[in-house]
Amino acid sequence: MSRFPEYNHEKSRGWFDRALNVIPSGVYGHLGPTEGLFLPIEKWPLICSRAQGTYFWDMDGNRYLDLMCAYGPNVLGYGDPDVDAAAMAQLSVGNCTTAPSYKMVECAELLVDTVAMADWAFFMKNGTDATTFSVLCARAHTRKRKVFFLKNYYHGNDAWAMKADYPGILPEDVAHNVILPWFDLQALEDAYQACDGDVAALIAQPYDHGNFYDNRLASKEYWASVRKFCTEHGIVLIIDDVRAGFRLDLAGSDHYYGFEADLICFCKALANGYNMSAVCGKEFLRPAASSLSFTGSYWMSAEPFAACIACINKMKKLNTPKLFRELGTKLTAGFQAAGRAHGFDLVVSGEPALFYLRIANDDSLMLHQEWVAECVSRGLFITSHHNHFLNAAVTDADIQLAIDIADDAFSVLAANHPELR
Ligand SMILES: Cc1ncc(COP(=O)(O)O)c(C=O)c1O
Repeated sequence: MSRFPEYNHEKSRGWFDRALNVIPSGVYGHLGPTEGLFLPIEKWPLICSRAQGTYFWDMDGNRYLDLMCAYGPNVLGYGDPDVDAAAMAQLSVGNCTTAPSYKMVECAELLVDTVAMADWAFFMKNGTDATTFSVLCARAHTRKRKVFFLKNYYHGNDAWAMKADYPGILPEDVAHNVILPWFDLQALEDAYQACDGDVAALIAQPYDHGNFYDNRLASKEYWASVRKFCTEHGIVLIIDDVRAGFRLDLAGSDHYYGFEADLICFCKALANGYNMSAVCGKEFLRPAASSLSFTGSYWMSAEPFAACIACINKMKKLNTPKLFRELGTKLTAGFQAAGRAHGFDLVVSGEPALFYLRIANDDSLMLHQEWVAECVSRGLFITSHHNHFLNAAVTDADIQLAIDIADDAFSVLAANHPELR
């Protein structure tokens, strides 16, 4: 018997139908049903009315304990008072101006002080801008063409970062992409020889945090070997820390894994939802970075820089990486115990700060999706195919509520599947 009543999404669905009239696919990308849902649409909130701390509310007034955190940007809690105050104060004195604000300089100085490998910082808006900038920078420096990717990568949605069979992508857009397995040093060597050394960069996430499968952690030894390989062959090592950045280590996820990247890309956790991204780089790449033709209308707006400064300082004060590790460990242990109580083995993988969930013995992931749908429709917003995120506003009471809803959803799943008993 479920203790948490299922939500009704009538008004949210009405708004989604309005969206479908005027926006292709209604809500596109990972926030919408075309890419991110994989759940029955009637179980999903679709459109949001407001957010605070760890929660958001849909158009029907239903409240969701949100463990996706806008897919990463919510790092301190929605509407964090310190970050919002800094942003509002900046807005009142200038935002998008002809000469950029001094806040840009302060923000770069703070990043150079905070990120272990950083000799400089360069700003843009989205994660894709940061990875694109990094690849251009590597090619400008090395004058070489190929880029090594590690399997199941996601580095954004510019043509170069997509797959050959995606709509609108030309074979030549991805002709210089070489996709290699994780944790296989011989494959790197072999590919380097096969390319006759025409390799500009290796771009990788700090560990294998892909979608639809268990996330795999890297070891310090693995990264030390990759670092050595790149240095020996003059390949620029780019770490895409867009997703994990500042959640494992405020000095960068390369620092967490004991090495130094040549370029590192940040975005999601930089400014608690204010729109900006950044690349930090080593000194030897400064001339290449300066040589690029790369900017955008809003890239030097001051409001996000003010928000970023407040956000980084608060993350330092709260030691958010430690907090997220503790919260993630506690939460996933509670989810697993709830699963066991109803006969389900919940597999947890990845870093606790960005945990990935899967019900065991369910290769199609359909059972897992069903459990996720029962959680979402009772107010616990998780997802079935992607890692989760935490924010600093999560309390012990929130953790208990999340575990209680998860438990409730497992009881519904068990009742719906007597054949599994
Ligand atoms: C690892 C990684 N790289 C790059 C990106 C692209 O970032 P954006 O969507 O801000 O362009 C993402 C977004 O989810 C990501 O997770």
